[in-house]
Amino acid sequence: MEKFRFLTSGESHGKCLTAIIEGLPANLEIDIDFINAELKRRQGGYGRGGRMKIESDTVEIMSGVRFGKTLGSPVTLVIKNNDFENWQKIMSTNPKDITSEKAFTTYRPGHADYAGSVKYHQKDLRNILERSSARKTAIEVAVGAVAKLFLKQFGITGSSKVLQIGNGKNEEEFHAEIDKAKAEGDTLGGKVQIEYENLPVGLGSYVHWDRKLDGRIAQAVMSVPAVKSVSIGNHHAYKMRGSEYHDEIFAEDGKITRKTNNAGGIEGGMSNGENIVVTAVMKPIPTLVKPLQSVDCVTCLPSEAHFERSDTCAVEACAVVAEARIACVLANEILLKYGGDCMEELLKNFRLQ
Ligand SMILES: Cc1cc2nc3c(=O)[nH]c(=O)nc-3n(C[C@H](O)[C@H](O)[C@H](O)COP(=O)(O)O)c2cc1C
Repeated sequence: MEKFRFLTSGESHGKCLTAIIEGLPANLEIDIDFINAELKRRQGGYGRGGRMKIESDTVEIMSGVRFGKTLGSPVTLVIKNNDFENWQKIMSTNPKDITSEKAFTTYRPGHADYAGSVKYHQKDLRNILERSSARKTAIEVAVGAVAKLFLKQFGITGSSKVLQIGNGKNEEEFHAEIDKAKAEGDTLGGKVQIEYENLPVGLGSYVHWDRKLDGRIAQAVMSVPAVKSVSIGNHHAYKMRGSEYHDEIFAEDGKITRKTNNAGGIEGGMSNGENIVVTAVMKPIPTLVKPLQSVDCVTCLPSEAHFERSDTCAVEACAVVAEARIACVLANEILLKYGGDCMEELLKNFRLQ
């Protein structure tokens, strides 16, 4: 039961990244500057690698929009990979161009290399790296930006922040942790928080397991590369008592209010009108300058893991990607609940509630 559907394609060093979004209503204003600003946010953050200096991501809209508004038809987004210029032969689709340049055969621990090479029967691990790389999160952020533009029409907005990087708990400490890890040829992960405000009550449902909003959000955020845990609301719930954790309900002028939001805005798989608060843990970046021990997939002999230009830490970018993922889930829920072929119809249904 998906209304906001999208597919993405594209390799890390291929020509471009593409997304087709299906299910957007007609007459949604598409602010391309906003999409590009979101792409810029994803490229930022302390501890990023050389790739971010090469790419300055901007989106091109190839279909589904006319004079700044959606037509109700599928919207196609494209982001060009500037680095493709240097990889044209290596990433060629033409069998005549076959080359072993940039091929590698030593699995990188923490990456898709080993399982991917077995699954897809590949000996050049480049064929695994190219799609498993987090480069594809650029187009996912572009799709999320369109979802955010849609949500904005209903007054729903999102933001995110970094809670922790290594042992650092504030910006100064984040930078110090990253500098230290980098100097030692090492990497870092961290913890982020994403918050969405102004939600209507009743997005998602308790009536069936796959309609629970918390389940859908958890899946969406867990699928961000390197995210290893997702929690909704107070992530210290495991050590709290019921009397302390559950958010008591009050009424003010006939309106339901809460003094706390430990539930993170979701009860019984539905939005309860409070802010949706999600935290996620990102593991340390798996590509290390000081390589980890591994095995060569051709010789089966011990070998040092392949190194390729990489981030030391991408926790800030991870927060932006997670924010985009949640936007897509919420856009889908708004479409399911309020229905309609055009923005006017959806907003009318929304105001009627
Ligand atoms: C925004 C972002 C940037 C990333 N950059 C890198 C990177 O430069 N080098 C790297 O080894 N992993 C990077 N990762 C993490 C890997 O893509 C990820 O750990 C790997 O694909 C294995 O997937 P898994 O961790 O989800 O199991 C990044 C992840 C995100 C979200």
